[in-house]
Amino acid sequence: MSSPLPAPFPLARPRRLRQSPWVRELVAENRLHVSDLIWPIFIHDRDVAREPIGSLVGVDRLSVAEAVKEAKLAKNLGIKVLALFPHLREDIRNADATAAIDPNGLIPTVCRAIKAEAPDIGLLVDVALDPYTDHGHDGLLREGRIVNDATVEMLVEQARVQVEAGADIVAPSDMMDGRILRIRQALEANGHHDTLIMSYAAKYASAFYGPYRDAIGVKALKGDKKTYQMDSSNSDEALREVAMDIQEGADMVMVKPGLPYLDIVQRVSETFQVPTFVYQISGEYAMIKAAAERGWVDHDRAVMETLLAFKRAGATGILTYFARHVAETLLEGGR
Ligand code: PBG
Repeated sequence: MSSPLPAPFPLARPRRLRQSPWVRELVAENRLHVSDLIWPIFIHDRDVAREPIGSLVGVDRLSVAEAVKEAKLAKNLGIKVLALFPHLREDIRNADATAAIDPNGLIPTVCRAIKAEAPDIGLLVDVALDPYTDHGHDGLLREGRIVNDATVEMLVEQARVQVEAGADIVAPSDMMDGRILRIRQALEANGHHDTLIMSYAAKYASAFYGPYRDAIGVKALKGDKKTYQMDSSNSDEALREVAMDIQEGADMVMVKPGLPYLDIVQRVSETFQVPTFVYQISGEYAMIKAAAERGWVDHDRAVMETLLAFKRAGATGILTYFARHVAETLLEGGR
């Protein structure tokens, strides 16, 4: 469908539609709503309620009790889903990531605690081994290589344990091949017919994950994640990854990081008729915070501009560390 050419000047004066706030709002093509936001939070098992994360200004690691409070607050703000990430003590991590499948581990514990007191907020859990391995990789390392199929079997178990503790959405972020199918089959076989899968389908090997690794306590990642996360130069490959995950049973897909991959968000959302999410990741958050701290950009305007960019590119929703701030302050008078 081609649209007619605009009238020539002065029949058309595009500035007419921009002359005042009311008309700009009237004709806005995209809007941000609190329901678009998924709020990622970090949980730890220390005695302190909150512990600041150096590289993520304004984001704290929370105790389980504090996370329950935040869940209630999020619910009152209209946020629909929390994404939960663990920070484990050093001595619990090992090469085989055994803590990832512990039914009494940190994430199952916090899922149960939140579901007991704030049952109507959706809980999204990451499925990947990096918070649980002592080397910081998302998969199992054998002779210096990340092994796919053995990792997938761990992920299946990790997903099951988390779902049985109350998680509503499992979000495999590991980029192993074939994991969506195996997780979906296992969920169906165990009667978890309603569990949602949001696949981190197009996830790129990115420099912008730095602060997240600090947040979950990965000290020194051995090597990089380039044998499983995607190469930043690729675009068609993202469509193949997404297509595979949909065929394997994903209900929703995600593109990650956000802003450097807006073209991918747009292609994915145009090509596939499935809910498409985007993750504004830790490094993207940290850059805005750092520049705003120096007075180089206006914090709130920069935040809204990036979130609207995701909507414009076609995202159904956004995972962002700004979720609470946006819900509390920026959405009061609309967008
Ligand atoms: C890994 C995982 C990562 C993030 C979420 N899950 C990082 C990585 O792949 O190294 C990143 C989130 C962020 O940077 O905000 N399972």
